[in-house]
Amino acid sequence: MEGICGKRASIIDAATLAAQIAGYREILIDIGTGDGRYVRHVARENPAWLAIGIDACRENLRGISRDAPRNALFVIANALTLPGELRGLATRITINFPWGSLLAALLDGDPAFRDGLVALARPGATLEILLNRGALAEAGYPLEAGAMRIAQVLRVWGFDGGRAAMLDADALRLYPTTWARRLAYGRDPCGWSLSATWPPRCAPYVGSVYPEQAGRASIAPQ
Ligand SMILES: C[S@@+](CC[C@H](N)C(=O)[O-])C[C@H]1O[C@@H](n2cnc3c(N)ncnc32)[C@H](O)[C@@H]1O
Repeated sequence: MEGICGKRASIIDAATLAAQIAGYREILIDIGTGDGRYVRHVARENPAWLAIGIDACRENLRGISRDAPRNALFVIANALTLPGELRGLATRITINFPWGSLLAALLDGDPAFRDGLVALARPGATLEILLNRGALAEAGYPLEAGAMRIAQVLRVWGFDGGRAAMLDADALRLYPTTWARRLAYGRDPCGWSLSATWPPRCAPYVGSVYPEQAGRASIAPQ
């Protein structure tokens, strides 16, 4: 698979990846990572974790990947054909404010995307998805209906449990992603958060990958 560090792209082969992941007890994979701000934040805050950001757009990743911490890795890839090298690595998967083909794959329940997504997961891995109105509107869904649609897709795909929570401006401000900030301070500061676990569980689900969000009110999706 193709890694990126500033302007320099390089092939990350199995041996290089094995050396990079050695010793990390938690591996977070952020799909559609954008400029990588969230991955950098997670890596800085959690030195015992490896944080991997994936995006199809290399230009966005050039800045942050240049001076990322050692426990952050950035990969250029299409989420619809996720790199096989990442198979079975993730203890946590995040998809923050997807748009375009990534969002369409979630809304449509694309079976190829589902297979790639669950292939990333270790047993018991958590999945968190953040959604915003503008992207869902472009895909033809009102915000809440789109969030419920994706919650339903996750259930059909076999994800376990599932929590859905509406996010207001205060909640959005707590998420360290560029789009969360943009939304929180914009004209329409709201979104949805969905979370689920990939069975079988081998460890109790310990909550959000965003520690600041622990304990926020949530409702079960219909
Ligand atoms: C609204 S941005 C969100 C970026 C970041 N997660 C954040 O919260 O700031 C959506 C991102 O999804 C990426 N994306 C959309 N479709 C994709 C695909 N099929 N494969 C990989 N990335 C994709 C875009 O390149 C873009 O960076």
